[in-house]
Amino acid sequence: MSRFDELAKIWDEASYRVENAKKIGQAIVENIPLKENWEILDFGAGTGLLTFYIQPYVKAIDAVDNSKGMLEKLEEKAKNAGVSNINPVFKDLEKDDLGENKYDAIISSMTLHHIKDVVSFLKKLNKALKDGGYIAIADLEKEEGDFHSDNEGVYHFGFSKEELENYFKEAGFKDFKFMIVNKIYKNNKEYPVFLAVGKK
Ligand SMILES: C[S@@+](CC[C@H](N)C(=O)[O-])C[C@H]1O[C@@H](n2cnc3c(N)ncnc32)[C@H](O)[C@@H]1O
Repeated sequence: MSRFDELAKIWDEASYRVENAKKIGQAIVENIPLKENWEILDFGAGTGLLTFYIQPYVKAIDAVDNSKGMLEKLEEKAKNAGVSNINPVFKDLEKDDLGENKYDAIISSMTLHHIKDVVSFLKKLNKALKDGGYIAIADLEKEEGDFHSDNEGVYHFGFSKEELENYFKEAGFKDFKFMIVNKIYKNNKEYPVFLAVGKK
């Protein structure tokens, strides 16, 4: 049972989350040459806020998550919208294999901070990408540990551009780009959200 199972019921009710995924989606569309025949992985897809933004541009998206509640919500949304190119995939990103030379691009929103060993995980993503494939990961910039009201399962208080660039290089990615795509206002503070892009 994941703590996200309960959160899934109200996840999309927070307008800042919907707005954040939209801004991330826009930046992905502007920075990656998405194609109609592409097969994509969205890791930590949740209810699919980012997945649904990107799906009209590509052939198919594997929406991977280890919360049954999140994936049920995503399936319900796809059914209601008549969308058939999103495949919900129940997997633990840290433990399970994600395949080899399989995806044209890998995208993600607000999930990397839940992954303990980022370099090992990025290496797994590199293996799952086809040669020349793109990676585009959005998450919080370095924060003071006060973004989440409960830090259980939060292994990183955001990431700096420098550490992420090193992680990307170590995992075999090139052409690193880093941009701030949104700012979330919470706790009377501003939390910048970045999009990091690389290529295999
Ligand atoms: C903060 S939410 C982001 C959801 C969605 N991408 C969005 O932007 O609304 C993080 C998601 O990552 C998933 N997650 C966290 N750790 C995971 C793991 N080890 N394996 C698979 N999914 C994981 C959670 O279940 C949750 O749906």
